[in-house]
Amino acid sequence: MIRIEHLHKKYQANKRDIIALQDINLDIAQGEIFGIIGRSGAGKSTLIRTLNLLERPDDGRVLIDGEDITALGHEALLELRQRVGMVFQHFNLLNAKTVAQNIDWPLKITGRYSREERAARVDELLQLVGLEAHRDQYPSQLSGGQKQRVGIARALANTPRLLLCDEATSSLDPETTASILRLLLEINRKLGLTIVLITHEMEVIRSICDRVAVLDAGAVAEHGKVVDIFLRPQHAVTRALLAESHAWDENDLYYQRREGGKLVRLTYAGELAAQPILSQLTAATAALATIVRGTVSRIKDTPYGQLLVEFSGGEHAVAQVLERLRHSGIDHEVLA
Ligand SMILES: Nc1ncnc2c1ncn2[C@@H]1O[C@H](COP(=O)(O)OP(=O)(O)OP(=O)(O)O)[C@@H](O)[C@H]1O
Ligand SMILES: [Mg+2]
Repeated sequence: MIRIEHLHKKYQANKRDIIALQDINLDIAQGEIFGIIGRSGAGKSTLIRTLNLLERPDDGRVLIDGEDITALGHEALLELRQRVGMVFQHFNLLNAKTVAQNIDWPLKITGRYSREERAARVDELLQLVGLEAHRDQYPSQLSGGQKQRVGIARALANTPRLLLCDEATSSLDPETTASILRLLLEINRKLGLTIVLITHEMEVIRSICDRVAVLDAGAVAEHGKVVDIFLRPQHAVTRALLAESHAWDENDLYYQRREGGKLVRLTYAGELAAQPILSQLTAATAALATIVRGTVSRIKDTPYGQLLVEFSGGEHAVAQVLERLRHSGIDHEVLA
């Protein structure tokens, strides 16, 4: 649905060039939730803003449904922005307008609908985001999560095919974040809407994204299915971001092993997550398994496990375990 080709962007500040994006190439499919993650200053906002040309790239193309949006004229661009909704970190609501009026605003300015049509659409949107009871309140009377629901409803008003979310949950507490993420997932499934979201939290990526690109210093460090990036991070930046969400920890290497013990990281997903993996390994050998650390959870809909296990019980038994692991289909890495 979206193809980003050789995108470059630089800014000028104090007569110096700041390279915000360098040679970004990405494909985003219809109906998926695509995450872009990176540290502060990595270029995330710049990149997402090129997708509706709030930011114009210096070089490269952005194709949406095959159409090069960097070549669009003024009229076509205004029309494009109605097909692409956007949600912001700080909500950007009109404070002098009520919830219903905020949601109505993008419908009104198109001049395309009658008052009745607009009212019906606003009702529908209020219901979708669960704010029927708050329709006549002003933004100052709402919680952060409620404000973001208004932001989402407003972004969906003109039934866009694509929703861009720039740190939509970064100003919210963890519980409210979870409820907004659930809402985005529900909208994605119910309306088949493509969502591109940016975040600096792996947890956001893990819970709702299908694929992810990791941005570092304006370039794509790695990209792929969330399961793959999460369980087998290749780039130092990805590992650091995962460490913050406790999914990865280089300190594991300093664990004090028993005599002859081996420290092994086991990674498995899907079907294997329902198997008694450790029991099978120890029952078939004389080895002992000590779980040092571990996560058994889900990446969106895929169950997975990542365990750091010390196998001990003698050299022979440990060798047998490693031999069995080699034939098991379980990803394993002997750390020490
Ligand atoms: N209008 C601007 N003028 C000059 N430099 C800019 C401008 N906008 C962004 N930059 C610079 O471009 C780089 C990328 O900025 P961008 O806002 O895209 O990063 P980000 O990943 O969204 O960061 P954050 O997580 O802090 O929001 C940064 O070095 C930033 O300082
Ligand atoms: Mg940003």
